[in-house]
Amino acid sequence: MRINKYIASAGVCSRRRADELIAQGRVKVNGAVLKEPGYDVQAGDLVQVDGRYIEGSEKLVYYALNKPAGYVTTTSDEHDRPTVLDLMTEVDVRVFPVGRLDYETTGLLIMTNDGALANHITHPSKKVFKTYVADIDGEISLAQAERLRKGVDIGGYTTRPARVEIIKQASVSRVRISISEGRNRQVRRMFAALGFNVIYLQRVSIGNVMLGHLHEGHYRRLSAEEVDYLKNC
Ligand code: URA
Repeated sequence: MRINKYIASAGVCSRRRADELIAQGRVKVNGAVLKEPGYDVQAGDLVQVDGRYIEGSEKLVYYALNKPAGYVTTTSDEHDRPTVLDLMTEVDVRVFPVGRLDYETTGLLIMTNDGALANHITHPSKKVFKTYVADIDGEISLAQAERLRKGVDIGGYTTRPARVEIIKQASVSRVRISISEGRNRQVRRMFAALGFNVIYLQRVSIGNVMLGHLHEGHYRRLSAEEVDYLKNC
């Protein structure tokens, strides 16, 4: 939607007045003063008028998706691989993923068109615990689990304290691990720091929002309580 219409439909002012505000440099998109009067607002854009964020007229929607392996967590892919958007077949508004799961990782991904919520959850200051179940190629010891809990060096960075529970201790071990940060391939790199390769990785929760019994490739609307929780966590 064109920016002046977007501002007008949020009830801020008329379209003509919105054009004036843009010309006066009083409108920002994603933190930068808007230079382009004909700008087309994208899902996830954060629009400010005189410093105040405005909500667009588009209905805000929130989904939990169970991402299968073999999908990229972007809205388009330069190598033409399937994206998580390809799975949101019945959703008629433009949504985008909050945060990222690797191509081969499965599990809970929040999909929304609410840019403010996405920024809120992914902000580095947020300490929302994300929980994963990992199958790793070897027998993990209690001492190694303790090292993961305390923090390991994943290449010049020591991870924050994590919650770690060994579910199965065998030649292929299963571990539940909760981390409060989201560095690139963090869980895989944490296990790699101890010499393990992750064979299977699934995200099972983000804070209080659970994957539950959602089948791979399926999605559901978040409940009002889940949305409230995410907005306030
Ligand atoms: N950690 C990983 O290593 N991969 C993910 O997809 C998410 C967390």
